[in-house]
Amino acid sequence: MKKVLVLPGDGIGHEIVAEALRVLDVVKGRFGLAIETDSALVGGSAIDATGVPLPEETLTKAKEADAILLGAVGGPKWDDLDMAIRPEKGLLGLRSNLQLFANLRPAILYPQLADASSLKPEIVSGLDILIVRELTGGIYFGQPRGIRTLESGEREGFNTYVYSESEIERIGRVAFEAARKRGGRLCSVDKHNVLEVTVLWREIMDTLAPEYPDVELSHMYVDNAAMQLVRAPRQFDVMVTGNMFGDILSDCAAMLTGSIGMLPSASLDANNKGMYEPVHGSAPDIAGQDLANPLATILSVAMMLRYSLNEATAADAIEAAVSAVLDAGIRTGDIWSEGCEKVGTRGMGDAVVAALADV
Ligand code: IPM
Ligand code: MG
Repeated sequence: MKKVLVLPGDGIGHEIVAEALRVLDVVKGRFGLAIETDSALVGGSAIDATGVPLPEETLTKAKEADAILLGAVGGPKWDDLDMAIRPEKGLLGLRSNLQLFANLRPAILYPQLADASSLKPEIVSGLDILIVRELTGGIYFGQPRGIRTLESGEREGFNTYVYSESEIERIGRVAFEAARKRGGRLCSVDKHNVLEVTVLWREIMDTLAPEYPDVELSHMYVDNAAMQLVRAPRQFDVMVTGNMFGDILSDCAAMLTGSIGMLPSASLDANNKGMYEPVHGSAPDIAGQDLANPLATILSVAMMLRYSLNEATAADAIEAAVSAVLDAGIRTGDIWSEGCEKVGTRGMGDAVVAALADV
């Protein structure tokens, strides 16, 4: 029996996870999957109940699970809290405690949604990028960090951007392997012209390259990469970068596809245990109104089945069902366009469940 820990989190997290679990139930029955689920608190809801964003019980359950499905964390209610106990710390604590260093963020344009992109259809049609983001190091976790008062009385904020050779090598290998299974092209994104840490980053990527002769490695500065993503995004196959650059570029890539509400992500450790979550956030402004798009979370379940639970057939079925729903013109508000049928969160879950019967 495989164990999945479900962490709905905050905001729209509850609604979207509920639909994803209905879909998981259907594929469990259909494919006879031995998967049991348990749930726990993380983020703001954990702060409200226990005072901390990542309670010990949640971390223990997460360590015992084979995979974790997370909704989203955060919201204005907790924005004024001290950094150390903000909801985001729950997410970051899970990533670092479980050593989920490899964050895979696909940005795929569903042909049915070509009009939803803010870019011209001819620029984004056929878009299929995978961003491999390092997730447990870099400036997000580097020490020292803080806000200190100088002798002059002025305060100064500081963080440390640091990567060790082994951290760069392990994320590099994930990216080369991913590129090998896809289009065979890997673009490593850095700021080699300014930051020493990325001089080392580039050097390690170059050192790995001869081991992957079937992958064509290129390098790009992060500012140029941001520009190229909106200028000619189809030039990219796999991109690999550090934690903060990856955070920024993955939002940018996500939006090329028309809706951040469509994109799942996986955060994996060295053994493919993973945490799966939509790329979007907790959207507190629309929480509880049956408006959120549950497809990114439903597609996160597919990724979970594929990467951590070894159930590729069930994953394929979910992805095919989502595609069928889009073919049928069923849309939540974020991806809706003239002539389509507008549904809510629950309605979208219903549609995917119904479509699963036919795929
Ligand atoms: C993401 C988010 C998180 C991050 C936040 C919520 C801490 O933006 O997963 O991209 O910065 O990593
Ligand atoms: Mg982000």
